[in-house]
Amino acid sequence: MKLILNKHSEYKKNKQVILKKRSNLEILESNFEVVDAEIPPINVGEFLIRAHYLSVDPYMRGRIDEEKSYAEKVEIGEVMVGTVVGMVVESSHDKFLVGDFVEARTGWQLYGICNGSGIRKLKNDGVPLTANLGTVGMPGVTAWIGLNVHAQPIKGETVVVSAASGAVGSVVGQLSKLKGCRVIGIAGGHKKCDYVVNELGFDACLNYKDKDFQKNLRDTCNEGVDVYFDNVGGIILDSILNYMNPFSRIVLCGQISGYSDPSALTVHNFRSFLINRIQLKGFICSDHMDLWRLALSELGDLVKSGQLKYKESIAIGLESAPKALIGLMEGKNFGKQLVKLI
Ligand SMILES: NC(=O)c1ccc[n+]([C@@H]2O[C@H](COP(=O)([O-])OP(=O)(O)OC[C@H]3O[C@@H](n4cnc5c(N)ncnc54)[C@H](OP(=O)(O)O)[C@@H]3O)[C@@H](O)[C@H]2O)c1
Repeated sequence: MKLILNKHSEYKKNKQVILKKRSNLEILESNFEVVDAEIPPINVGEFLIRAHYLSVDPYMRGRIDEEKSYAEKVEIGEVMVGTVVGMVVESSHDKFLVGDFVEARTGWQLYGICNGSGIRKLKNDGVPLTANLGTVGMPGVTAWIGLNVHAQPIKGETVVVSAASGAVGSVVGQLSKLKGCRVIGIAGGHKKCDYVVNELGFDACLNYKDKDFQKNLRDTCNEGVDVYFDNVGGIILDSILNYMNPFSRIVLCGQISGYSDPSALTVHNFRSFLINRIQLKGFICSDHMDLWRLALSELGDLVKSGQLKYKESIAIGLESAPKALIGLMEGKNFGKQLVKLI
């Protein structure tokens, strides 16, 4: 007898990545497990999403360790948290219809059920689907808020940004250039630095892995830094404190150099805050939900007009998500890290 699979039975098979054990140190693929799962029927007011791309982000590191953070942990046995872009394949919701593309926090799985809360319907407006997880998604909004709300750089000022080729850093630098600033990136490796200068248009980019990094930093920043947008913390933050101008600003966005080893975050040049009256501002992008619509609209327009460029690293298949996260923590990604799920 011939077995006929209809569309419904095809998407009844889900696959998930769950957290198997926590780690405060280095994360390993064995911290996760890939499992098959059933998809329960949707209720009235709900819809089913087939994920096409998963975003892999540094915040995921904090969700699987024991340390206190600003957000809830993923429990052992739970599906890993994460944002996807995907298509509605079944719906009992009057606003989200079959065929709509959405951005949703359904986690590391192929299918997820939503009720519409916190879901962004994506317009067919020329922004590439994957950009909604990067430059026109949470990382882009983070850059926009960190700059426009907290750093507020003005024309002629010098802005330094670390993890400069990455999802947040690349937007920070390009937005700062559009504001007429002198922009210096810091990134891991000559390839990333070349891209940041030649493709993204930064004025300079320094490779922090280079043995001459401290000398290069001195040569490039000796006229002073007005804004440091910190994505990494640790020794890079400590080094830049030597060059901050009086009344300059440091926006503390991330501390990725210490996510697996907090001892790497020690700062010695603390005195610079006092003598230079530096304003230090930590922030989380979700503190400013009121600004997301405006930020996304501006970022989308800049991507469509070609004024904001970006790069993506795309891993293939849900099973590759743990390795992609581990790679992100080691700088193996070049641009926004995604996982293709379809
Ligand atoms: N505050 C918020 O609301 C918020 C929101 C989103 C992201 N963030 C933070 O922003 C930062 C960037 O995030 P992203 O999504 O744009 O990631 P990303 O820059 O695309 O990728 C992470 C990058 O971090 C760098 N890195 C890894 N280990 C490092 C180390 N030991 N020292 C220096 N750099 C290291 C690597 O770049 P290199 O090869 O150049 O070293 C890696 O490519 C992260 O710290 C993240 O936690 C904060």
